Formats: sequence, C-alpha cells, structure tokens
Amino acid sequence: MDAYRAIITKRDTRHYLPDPVPPDVLTRVLQAGRMAGSSKNSQPVRMIVVQAPERRAALAGCGDYADHLKAAPLAIAVVLLPGGGPFDAGRAAQNLMVAAWAEGIASCPVSMHRQECARAVLGVPADCTVATVLAMGYPDLKHPLSQGRQRLPLDELVSWEQWGAHRPETA
Ligand SMILES: Cc1cc2nc3c(=O)[nH]c(=O)nc-3n(C[C@H](O)[C@H](O)[C@H](O)COP(=O)(O)O)c2cc1C
Repeated sequence: MDAYRAIITKRDTRHYLPDPVPPDVLTRVLQAGRMAGSSKNSQPVRMIVVQAPERRAALAGCGDYADHLKAAPLAIAVVLLPGGGPFDAGRAAQNLMVAAWAEGIASCPVSMHRQECARAVLGVPADCTVATVLAMGYPDLKHPLSQGRQRLPLDELVSWEQWGAHRPETA
C-alpha cells in the first residue's frame, strides 16, 4: 500500500482479531513512531507497548470510550514528557497508526480521561501525560472498519490565501 492510500483509507477501527502482531512488524511500526519530528527535535514522546490482557483491561477502565482496548491484542501508549506538546504526541501517534495500517493492522486512538489511573497502570511518572493509547490489531472484518463518520468537504476545510477565501479559478 503506498503512503497516500494508507493515509486516506485508514479509519479508526474498534473490532480486532485476537491474532498477535508479529515482532518484526511491531518493530517497524515503532520505528515509524520514533521517526516523527518534534519541536526542536526535543523528542518528548515515549511509547509503551502493552500486550498483557490484564493491563489492557485496566487501561480500559481509565477512559470513557475505551472498551475496545480489552479486545485489541496490542496497545501502544503514547506518553509525553514534561514540556512536550500535543502536536508532538499527535505526529508520533499518526505515524504509528498509518505504518500499522500499511501492514494491515487496524487501530483506534483511545483517550485516557483519568490520567492518574492511566499513569498508575503504566507506571508513568506523575509529571508525564498519557497523551493517547492506541488500540491495535488485525481488523475483524465481520464489523465495519469504522463508524462511517463523514468528513467535511474539501471546500469547507480549505481556504486559499486568506481565511474563508475560495480557490482561484485556474485558466
Ligand atoms: C484526539 C482523539 C481522541 C479520541 N478518543 C477516542 C476514544 O477515547 N475512544 C474512541 O473509541 N475513539 C476515539 N477517537 C477516535 C475518533 O472517534 C475517530 O477519529 C473519529 O470518529 C473518526 O473515525 P473514522 O476515521 O473511523 O471515521 C479519538 C480520536 C482523536 C483524534
């Protein structure tokens, strides 16, 4: 799958097969997270691979919409060191998810609404933030890949030169 296809077909999938992700594939996915740029190359993102079912179940209790972490064979927590920004975490998380999807592995970001809970489950220091936990696994195609939420049309999302201005006519 080329990069554009991986990006535009990636949806946030919440149903997975129990099959494990092979170690070499997981390493490639983690490399993709590692290579995300960060502000001034400060590299404030850390990743925690979570495979143990009891730990995934405990993490599911730290978010309001997190039940699919129980069924995903793999989760990757994206953790921000103090001073790291949400854009840093977002770049790493999207790299991880797109690289995984290029290998046929579906994913969904899961918010940890109760940070204390997530930090305790993962052993993360108090001054760090669990920015997201990515549930991952081969998709269970008995279910749709996504809840099918539509995107705004390009015209509504994109301005040209200034806020709200339409695309100029091309000759
Ligand atoms: C910052 C952020 C937080 C999210 N948190 C959750 C979450 O806690 N639980 C969940 O099931 N999905 C979560 N999602 C996934 C969104 O629901 C999903 O991106 C959106 O519905 C579009 O899905 P689609 O690509 O399948 O259309 C989150 C996505 C983002 C970007």
